[in-house]
Amino acid sequence: MNTIKQLDLGTEESKSKEMVSIEIDGQLLEVKNGTSIMRAARESGIDVPKLCATDTLKSFGSCRLCVVEIEGRKGFPASCTTLAEEGMKIRTQTNKVANLRRNVMELYISDHPLDCLTCSANGDCELQDMAGAVGLRDVRYGFEGKNHLEAVVDESNPYFNFDASKCIVCSRCVRACDEIQGTMALTIEGRSFDSKVSASIGESFLDSECVSCGACVQACPTATLMEKSIIDHGQPEHSIDTTCAYCGVGCSFKAEMKGDQVVRMIPNKDGKANNGHSCVKGRFAWGYSTHKERVLDPLIRESVGDSWKKVSWEEAINYAAKRFKEIQNKYGRKSIGGITSSRCTAEEVYAVQKMVRTAFSNNNVDTCARVCHSPTGYGLKTTLGTSAGTQPFESVMDADAIIVIGANPTDGHPVFASQMKKRLRQGAKLIVIDPRKIDLVETPHIKAEHHLALQPGTNVAIINALAYTIIKEDLIDEEYVNERCDMESFEAWKNCILKSENNPDNVEKISGVNAETIRSAARLYGSAKRSAIYYGLGVTEHSQGSTMVMGIANLAMATGNIGFSGCGVNPLRGQNNVQGSCDMGSFPHELPGYQPIGDDSIRKIFEDNWQVSIDSEPGFRIPNMFDAAISGEFMGMYIQGEDLAQSDPNTQHVEAALGNMECIVVQDLFLNETAKFAHVFLPGTSFLEKDGTFINAERRINRVRPVMKSRQGMHEWLITQNLANAMGYAMNFGSEAEIMDEIAQLTPTFRNVSHNFLDRFGSVQWPCNEDAPTGTPIMHIDNFVRGKGLFVETDYVATEERTNRKFPLLLTTGRILSQYNVGAQTRRTQNIVWHDKDLLEIHPHDAETRGIKNKDQVSLASRKGEVTLTAKITERVQPGVVYTTFHNPETGANVVTTEHSDWATNCPEYKVTAVQITPANHKSKWQDQFKARAKQEGKIIEALH
Ligand code: SF4
Ligand code: SF4
Ligand code: SF4
Ligand code: FES
Repeated sequence: MNTIKQLDLGTEESKSKEMVSIEIDGQLLEVKNGTSIMRAARESGIDVPKLCATDTLKSFGSCRLCVVEIEGRKGFPASCTTLAEEGMKIRTQTNKVANLRRNVMELYISDHPLDCLTCSANGDCELQDMAGAVGLRDVRYGFEGKNHLEAVVDESNPYFNFDASKCIVCSRCVRACDEIQGTMALTIEGRSFDSKVSASIGESFLDSECVSCGACVQACPTATLMEKSIIDHGQPEHSIDTTCAYCGVGCSFKAEMKGDQVVRMIPNKDGKANNGHSCVKGRFAWGYSTHKERVLDPLIRESVGDSWKKVSWEEAINYAAKRFKEIQNKYGRKSIGGITSSRCTAEEVYAVQKMVRTAFSNNNVDTCARVCHSPTGYGLKTTLGTSAGTQPFESVMDADAIIVIGANPTDGHPVFASQMKKRLRQGAKLIVIDPRKIDLVETPHIKAEHHLALQPGTNVAIINALAYTIIKEDLIDEEYVNERCDMESFEAWKNCILKSENNPDNVEKISGVNAETIRSAARLYGSAKRSAIYYGLGVTEHSQGSTMVMGIANLAMATGNIGFSGCGVNPLRGQNNVQGSCDMGSFPHELPGYQPIGDDSIRKIFEDNWQVSIDSEPGFRIPNMFDAAISGEFMGMYIQGEDLAQSDPNTQHVEAALGNMECIVVQDLFLNETAKFAHVFLPGTSFLEKDGTFINAERRINRVRPVMKSRQGMHEWLITQNLANAMGYAMNFGSEAEIMDEIAQLTPTFRNVSHNFLDRFGSVQWPCNEDAPTGTPIMHIDNFVRGKGLFVETDYVATEERTNRKFPLLLTTGRILSQYNVGAQTRRTQNIVWHDKDLLEIHPHDAETRGIKNKDQVSLASRKGEVTLTAKITERVQPGVVYTTFHNPETGANVVTTEHSDWATNCPEYKVTAVQITPANHKSKWQDQFKARAKQEGKIIEALH
């Protein structure tokens, strides 16, 4: 628990290493050259009044409240815009400056509603504070003249209001939107008295370009921009530091509380991943944790179709254990398994994989990373030696050229996108490789140098063509490669790449990308001083996902772009703890820390600690579990926080597998689609109740702290532990901290990590051990973790999923900003205002030839199935490509996706499905069945609540 207000030093920190000596109010000070007088004063405890300045924004100098006197200078300079100079003598508290400040405040207050006592910002208003600070006792100007007091409040945004009557036109909101968020949604319209803040030329906030990140609300010094939660519940009393549970950026927040109720989430300025910024999900979309549909009682039922019965924790856990044991007795030891969740903490995940390996006596454990970033783990481990990205997010601020491949950061990783956009506005060059025109291709003040709008499924052809050009045009960093890489593999790779099929002229025919564009992009990446690659699921979710990851690593090594700031290979992880769930031994072939299960000496260390013998054979991956379920060999599954029925490909196959199992235990917040097939439901905890760690895309281990008691009465790790005990294995952790202690003991890359350590020093990036006691922001600095960097040959092999006359279009999928994956959380918040259903994007040409108009219902059919969606005609997709999101269960996007998967990891090929689109006036058969099942489940759920 800590105080609410975050320190504000008024202006940004200077990056200079030089120091200057100054005197402020008689105090001799040494400050960094380039520091403002305001910051210098505040750093030494002298609070110069301010309104338009804040240390997250550039100085602006508009309010004139911060004036000071400087010996030998005329007038009263603003301390926020005047830099400290050697020998300066400054006085901040003279009578003259006091009078000036009072006059400024008097003018502000004369056009401000004097409703402080009933104002929602009472107690947290800088205008109110400054009136006190300058000693304002009296306002000489009346309210009878022109004023803004009648301005209408804009309540359109679901999370915050804009009350123009309270605006002092300090422009902090406009600057926050420009400088921090990079959306440029706000302007100051008009001049002098008529000047006012306006969202996208007079539109309401909801209809404007605003993406509801809340940076302007946080920057506003008055109640003009104010969270509705504060208007409804009042000011918070204390705050607790924790971490966002949505995406892999891992933003740190202060959960501001009133008693045990969250009233606001404020991004933490000290958060190393987000530096005080956030997106709409983390800042505002946390209401799902108290949503009425959340299930808080353990439930059991004999068979699917029976009504759920509320039972005690003990009864539910014993029931699950009994059924699992019966299955093992009947079908054998390997007939059950477990799935870990990337939404849960590292400690909770660790407990599940330990339960599977001890109480279940097999290695049938897998994780949702199987369907997203498993190729990242495979590809980066093979080439570089570590299954993780190489850089901290801040590294992007040193990049000169940036490639974004198969990722849409402004929607999927918004806070990182804002940082990247800042760097792009400073002049770094951007190459986007994506079938779709994502926002980054062209957005205010940013235009990508090149957009390689490739055909879905041709990533590897493109990366090879880029490499071909780099080799042909002598852009290889020979010295780096000679010194740091395995030369035999380099030569083999070079020979492979120089095959004529990788010539850009040839790749143009495969990918649809102009050969000259490929060459220019290669030159840009290969010749920039520091080049970075960021990629997402548009790289991994392909039949050649692992090949593409290795192709990216090859390119980065060949151009000497790994091992320092501004470069690297950077997977943008989807879920909050994807990195952590992989780190914790969730794969069937690896113990925690990616230690091979087949290695006797490693297994022995775990066996000695766990006091059990561990199977040396890798267990089933998720797709193998489904196949084995259909063939009657795999009959029981424990599913921690993952909705397999909605998120995995080829829904009919998944449903057939789930329907064939004899015991499915679902541990989740809500009765999700998978729970429709479950026999035991164990209610989970939301991130607001969890204690532990999430590990983000930078390998950063962030603390998650409980801000309220577990609403269902039991921590998730304890549920798992109790089930393990009921199955006959004595697991006896006393707390989450003890679990982390065991992780540290058994995992070399976590050796120095403990909750105590993280609480004292803040987040760290693993490896954090004897060699790197405070963590490792940049990997592979002098050597690759595997020794010499390994080049891997990456021949392009076209996917088996082909278009033909029956299925002439290619479907690819993605996410949007306001929703999160299968939408279980965000659909239960006001974020539905922005996205209440998934749409199918189709190019005008393809729509016209099919007689499809905007908003028409269309049938989306593939070789696997058919669903009906609403069409959105847009040139964001190229002809021949259609696109949809998968946030709503009734969309059934995975009804049409296929069983094709990555050759190395089985990561499904979500990004390429051959489809046909036709006008439709009815829902598909699957959607009718879905509706009927939902109705039946609805009745069951209604009876429960
Ligand atoms: S909420 Fe964010 S995007 Fe919207 S106006 Fe404010 S700063 Fe800009
Ligand atoms: S809305 Fe707030 S931040 Fe923006 S100009 Fe008005 S007072 Fe300043
Ligand atoms: S960027 Fe990701 S981690 Fe940060 S607030 Fe948004 S969803 Fe949360
Ligand atoms: S705070 Fe310096 S001019 Fe406003």
